[in-house]
Formats: sequence, structure tokens, C-alpha cells
Amino acid sequence: MGRRLSGKIVIATHNAGKLREMRELLAPYGIEAVSAGELGLGEPDETASDFAGNALIKAQSAAKAANLPAFADDSGLCVEALGGAPGILSARWAGEAKDFYAAMDRIRREVEATGAKKPWRAYFISALALCWPDGHVEQFEGRVDGDLVFPPMGTAGFGYDPCFRPDGHERTFGEMTAEEKHGIPADGSRALSHRARAFQALARGCLA
Ligand code: IMP
Repeated sequence: MGRRLSGKIVIATHNAGKLREMRELLAPYGIEAVSAGELGLGEPDETASDFAGNALIKAQSAAKAANLPAFADDSGLCVEALGGAPGILSARWAGEAKDFYAAMDRIRREVEATGAKKPWRAYFISALALCWPDGHVEQFEGRVDGDLVFPPMGTAGFGYDPCFRPDGHERTFGEMTAEEKHGIPADGSRALSHRARAFQALARGCLA
């Protein structure tokens, strides 16, 4: 059991979608979340070489600046035939235009060029970091494995969802409802998405 989280925390994101999702996940535990954007905090450079390191940079910077416990996440898609790429560069592969269809097509072309046999394996990772102003840190990670699907299927979700079919399922994340993908099962069974799995670990460690 990690350090218990209570009261008010800062969500170290400037992304409105992530903030909404985290607020919804934390509300049942009586935790009030304010965002780094609302507090006018800056965005530190994500200079680490892995997801956990980047989540830690964001949470530490916000905890220090706001003098409150802070929460941050970092996530992305790792393709086995590409040695884990795009990984921490997942957002960057979509470019300024945030064109994820172009990014998914780049994955298809690059994997094809390796000659890798199908199914093409990939996984999503979500790394979460919680930091307190006294420097205490708790970190959690969630992962979901699956196959890449081309052409991409479905229009739900975001990012790389349409080209990822999680193991044990017939449909891609792009063909699932948000509840199906990110929902935290009330019966205590394992959630599906990397983000929901990481949050389950956080809830068990710091919110129980
Ligand atoms: P960040 O965590 O905000 O740095 O973004 C990571 C990148 O990975 C984004 O470009 C997302 O589109 C992608 N990504 C992370 N999680 C998911 C997911 O659940 N579905 C699809 N794409 C995702």
C-alpha cells in the first residue's frame, strides 16, 4: 500500500480531454482535481527516455509549483517489429496537424518494410506518477497487448485506436465505446485499456 491520496490535487495536463477523464475517475474518491492549465503552471520539457520518466517530470514540476500533490500521465503505442516505436514519440508521429491516419499509415509502411510476419504485435502503455510537495513519489503502469489492424477500423476513440485490436477481442479500440475501452469494472475484475489498468493499480495503491 502506497501513501494515501486525499483532498485536492493538481492534474499536470493542459489537455482538456485528459482532465475530464481524470476528474471523472477521481470524483468517486472525494478528490478534487484542478489542472495545471487552470493554475497557470508551465509545461516542462519531456526529456526522459521512457513513459515513466516523462510522467515523473510532469508530476514533480507541478507538485513543486503548486505546493499540492500532483498527478501526471504519459502514454503511447509501442510496435514490436519497430523496436517499440513510436513509443514516447506517439504524439509526435501525428505531426503538427495531429493526423493519426498518417501516423498509422507510417506504422504500416515501416512494419511492412521490416518483412515482419503477421500478426503484427503492439501494446499501449500508460505510466502514472503521483508526487507530493515533500518529494514523495508513487508510480504505476498499465499495459494492454494486441494486434495491429490495417486498414484501421472504427471511428470511436482517438489517436491510434482504430488500428489496435486488444487480445481476446474481435473489435479494435476504434470500434468500442469509451465505457468498454476505459471502464473500470465494478466487480473488481481487470479493466481493458492501459489507462484504466494503470488507474486500477493507482486506486488500489493510493485511494483504497
Ligand atoms: P501523451 O500521453 O499525451 O503524451 O500522448 C501519447 C500519444 O499516444 C497520443 O498521441 C495518443 O494519441 C497516443 N495514445 C495514448 N493512449 C492512447 C489510446 O488509448 N488510444 C489511442 N492512442 C493513444
